[in-house]
Amino acid sequence: MMRTLRCSTLFVFVVFFVGCLGVEENKEEKKHFIVFLENQPILTEVDAVDNHLNVLMSLKESHVEAKEAMVYSYTKSFNAFAAKLTEQEANTLSKRGDVTHVIPNRRRQIQTTRSWDFIGFPSHAKRLPNRESNIIVGLFDTGISPTADSFKDDGFGPPPKKWKGICQKSANFSGCNNKLIGARYFMLDGSAEPLDIMAPVDVTGHGTHTSSTAAGNVIAGASLSGLAKGTARGGVPSARVAMYKVCWVGVGCTDMDILAAFDAAIDDGVDVISISIAGTGYNNYSEDVMAIGAFQAMQKGIITVAAAGNTGPATGSVVNTAPWIVTVGASTIDREFVTKLELGNGWNISGVGINLFNGQPKMYPLVDGGDVAKNPGDKTSANFCMEGSLDPTKANGKLVFCQLMIWGADSAVKAAGAHGAVIQSDQYYLDHTDLFMVPATLVNSTIGQTIEAYIKSTKTPTAIVYRTVQRQAAAPFVASFSARGPNQRSRFILKPDIVAPGVNILAAYTPLNSLTGLKGDTQHSKFSLLSGTSMACPHVAGAAAYVKSFHPHWSPAAIRSALITTAKPLRRVQSPDGEFGYGAGLLDPDRAREPGLIYEVDKMSYIQHLCKQGYNGSSISILTGAGPVDCSTLIPAQGQDSLNYPTFQLSLNKTRHPTTAVFWRQVTNVGRPASVYKATITAPPGVKITVEPTSLSFSSLQQTRSFKVVVKANPLPPQNMVSGSLTWADANYVVRSPIVIYTHEDFGHDEGLIV
Ligand SMILES: *[C@@H]1O[C@H](CO)[C@@H](O)[C@H](O)[C@H]1NC(C)=O
Ligand SMILES: *[C@@H]1O[C@H](CO)[C@@H](O)[C@H](O)[C@H]1NC(C)=O
Ligand SMILES: *[C@@H]1O[C@H](CO)[C@@H](O)[C@H](O)[C@H]1NC(C)=O
Ligand SMILES: *[C@@H]1O[C@H](CO)[C@@H](O)[C@H](O)[C@H]1NC(C)=O
Ligand SMILES: *[C@@H]1O[C@H](CO)[C@@H](O)[C@H](O)[C@H]1NC(C)=O
Ligand SMILES: *[C@@H]1O[C@H](CO)[C@@H](O)[C@H](O)[C@H]1NC(C)=O
Repeated sequence: MMRTLRCSTLFVFVVFFVGCLGVEENKEEKKHFIVFLENQPILTEVDAVDNHLNVLMSLKESHVEAKEAMVYSYTKSFNAFAAKLTEQEANTLSKRGDVTHVIPNRRRQIQTTRSWDFIGFPSHAKRLPNRESNIIVGLFDTGISPTADSFKDDGFGPPPKKWKGICQKSANFSGCNNKLIGARYFMLDGSAEPLDIMAPVDVTGHGTHTSSTAAGNVIAGASLSGLAKGTARGGVPSARVAMYKVCWVGVGCTDMDILAAFDAAIDDGVDVISISIAGTGYNNYSEDVMAIGAFQAMQKGIITVAAAGNTGPATGSVVNTAPWIVTVGASTIDREFVTKLELGNGWNISGVGINLFNGQPKMYPLVDGGDVAKNPGDKTSANFCMEGSLDPTKANGKLVFCQLMIWGADSAVKAAGAHGAVIQSDQYYLDHTDLFMVPATLVNSTIGQTIEAYIKSTKTPTAIVYRTVQRQAAAPFVASFSARGPNQRSRFILKPDIVAPGVNILAAYTPLNSLTGLKGDTQHSKFSLLSGTSMACPHVAGAAAYVKSFHPHWSPAAIRSALITTAKPLRRVQSPDGEFGYGAGLLDPDRAREPGLIYEVDKMSYIQHLCKQGYNGSSISILTGAGPVDCSTLIPAQGQDSLNYPTFQLSLNKTRHPTTAVFWRQVTNVGRPASVYKATITAPPGVKITVEPTSLSFSSLQQTRSFKVVVKANPLPPQNMVSGSLTWADANYVVRSPIVIYTHEDFGHDEGLIV
């Protein structure tokens, strides 16, 4: 589990992690719940709030008590409220006729610039700056640093007319401008005490980083102390940014706050919502505020892009998988950072981890953490270089060899006056880097054993840790931490949808946090390197905004289809999990601008899909915000799955017989009026795939054509996934969809796992 904490924003993760412990079940204890009510279309805001209070009054003796229990009324896109209730009260409310659903409030966690160039989206890519400046990217995150160069408004006119949002300016937040047009925060749990500032300001660096990746200005000469030098820029540098701070140090990101951010952002007029937040243990869409909020956004034409989660490479770990969300995994880019270690015996070892050490490299005594323990009876803590475990009189001026348990050995080493650290990691995949505050490097256990043997072999072990250098690397690979399919909630929808750069990404940072966020770190920088699906997500959000700047009237499904069908295909060598690692492949914004054909999905198709999955009318109404749906009256859809999704996934039952599945799809011509597309199928061994018809002719734009894909698959061993593809191509466009076949297994739910 700790592996998943490995991210440059570890400080935040650790605090969240600690914050999540100590949550005890107690029947009498009041907890936060979100109560969804039947939708009443023409309620004014005041009436809606009154109505919410009336519902609470049914539980309480007085109006005052009801008011005390009330936390927040969602009145714009949702008819719902958050309240502090006992389990029993929540239960009583859920039985009321006008209450559709009561869900407990839960916590989630947050999860350049060469990255755009790497994916073939250069700064001179074709753009429509005037249209782009009309696009508003909303981010739900840890806040934003308003002083970052990425959000200066030189050359920006006033906000687009549609913008209705606000800026919560205060002593702690200097305010907005014509680039950063909105910033607000939601912290509805008054009893929580975040180690944070009650303002939209970013004290972690995470939200500043993601915002600048999505839509930051073009900043030449950006680097982290000379590393990753280049031009930092967002996907849509001319677009506007709106920050909704919902993640708090020491608390995490609660569902109540996320839902409030959706309620506000949808009404404010954002075009794209980017959410680098994930949480596990959400059994179905009607209980998941991310799915509920994104459905409402989708109905208003707003596309929601979300991180797939950092719990990879575990099978079935992908989250934020609702079919109306674009789910983004993380890949590497073609550079890596290596830190050389030279031992006194002349061995040179290449480790990872970034240190910005500027001194002259020279040999320092190398000691085992356990040999410089403060308490000789507790060598174990010292072996892990836990805080306070090292004896400063013995560690002073030395390089300490530590085992990695929890991030922060460099902080403990520094506190003990040591020169630096060599850290051995058993648990982590060393495919991405973290920052250190002292000269330090990270090595794997094989190398660690060699170092340990060297320390024991001589009376005077010594070593040099060199400053980190950047070098070219083969890429892209799917990052080890990037969460993997199969999708646990919709067996026929492939997730993640796509991957984008998410490893060692350079983007803007906050002056309010040190580079490591650890105690004793005094390093600061305007830009920093972070890794996570959190960093991949705003690349896709930026690309979605870019596509929208060319096609302002495209639906969220059309934009998603453009992103998915134009992604650069990857191969198994780039992720042994295949499509479960990378979805349709690597983001390619330049091609997504003109996809040729799109797979459109309307709201009714999503509802039919949900009916087919076994959601009943009242559950679906929580998502739609409208009255209950009668699934029995909906025309049964043909084939395996009715949803016009741009990828295909066949989930086989455990059987000894071949399975035949039919997928019905429809594409809309958005390329050239008169065009003929021909199908190309690739099929893996043991699977027969046919498409009918094999050619689609169009005579005008917006014309639609239907086809069916028949997949006949022999039984597959469990844990096995094979894939092929369907590609429609004419002279100008290539529209590719992966076809995935796997055997379904119930993986259960990872209740309460930390992302
Ligand atoms: C926020 O602003 C108030 C008012 O100026 C100030 O007293 C407080 O110290 C600030 N908080 C932080 C954490 O900077
Ligand atoms: C290790 O690196 C140092 C410094 O770059 C170099 O002088 C030395 O020859 C290397 N040792 C070996 C065994 O390659
Ligand atoms: C550690 O890295 C070395 C060199 O890259 C490699 O040969 C070895 O297999 C790795 N060990 C582990 C446990 O991954
Ligand atoms: C959704 O979750 C609720 C509550 O846990 C459960 O009763 C319901 O059956 C679930 N629906 C589906 C379709 O899984
Ligand atoms: C719909 O499903 C929910 C959760 O399983 C259940 O509580 C509710 O009674 C169902 N409603 C109807 C109308 O069947
Ligand atoms: C798998 O089994 C379920 C439940 O029995 C059934 O509804 C579904 O159609 C089957 N799927 C396939 C691909 O055969």
